[in-house]
Amino acid sequence: MREPAPTDANNSEVQIVAAEPRSVKVWDPVVRIGHWLLAGGFLTAYLTAEENQPIHVLAGYTVATVVVLRILWGFVGAKHARFASFVRGPGAAFGYLAGLASGKSKRSIGHNPAGAAMTVALLICIGGTAISGMALLAAEEGEGPLAVFITAEGEGARAVEGSVEERGLAEDAETGEEGGEEMFEEVHELFVNFTLLLIGLHIVGVIASSLAHRENLVRAMITGRKRGGD
Ligand code: HEM
Ligand code: HEM
Repeated sequence: MREPAPTDANNSEVQIVAAEPRSVKVWDPVVRIGHWLLAGGFLTAYLTAEENQPIHVLAGYTVATVVVLRILWGFVGAKHARFASFVRGPGAAFGYLAGLASGKSKRSIGHNPAGAAMTVALLICIGGTAISGMALLAAEEGEGPLAVFITAEGEGARAVEGSVEERGLAEDAETGEEGGEEMFEEVHELFVNFTLLLIGLHIVGVIASSLAHRENLVRAMITGRKRGGD
């Protein structure tokens, strides 16, 4: 069978849509599906932190997987997904924010400079949350991918002392918690809380930019499309 001749319509980066002549495709499926998996996964992990450990860990792994894929996609993915196309210095981000209220800030087809900085900050902090969660799981239960590097401390200490306590009952009788475990718990909580702060700012930023540029950025993150350049 013969290959169809390439046409403009096959260009996935700037695809003109017949029904909406000025609409261009900006966010590819990796970015869009990844975004909503991140948002849903983070929220699920947060809400199941105490009661439901398996769901918490599963949601956390989902988020971690999306972050890894998104970072790789940032190097090899579609145009607007690439870090090289949107990452700029902090000056650009603050300049954009300063001009937002006065209407001086320009609209971007991809991430605006503040959205770009937020994207990087969120990916780092969500990654930190997931890694510290895995470290905590290893220190507490001796489970997960980091269990190779981090042992549940109670086990090691008791082995040295010749204790007969079973593996998994890794709780120190006096402090109620092992030092490493406590440290990882602190770090995990710190990352979670800082990420929550960023998420709050992220949502405020999305609303502010949507109002300033009179476009629905949330819808764009669902459909992948924005109106053409202006
Ligand atoms: C309901 C709440 C949320 C809404 C409405 C929302 C909306 C958006 C929108 C509109 C963008 C594109 C911004 C732009 O045009 O520059 C975006 C990007 C992003 N958001 Fe959210 N977001 C939400 C929650 C979250 C949460 C909870 C997280 C993290 C756990 C998150 C992480 C990100 C990331 C990493 C990006 C960058 C996308 C990429 O380049 O891959 N968002 N979000
Ligand atoms: C990425 C999203 C995640 C969020 C939002 C999150 C959030 C939380 C929160 C709020 C706590 C309670 C902290 C405390 O009570 O001191 C917690 C505990 C914990 N998290 Fe996560 N976490 C995430 C990912 C992970 C991952 C990927 C793992 C492991 C694979 C993990 C393992 C744990 C463990 C073992 C605990 C201690 C539970 C307990 O002993 O009560 N978390 N997490």
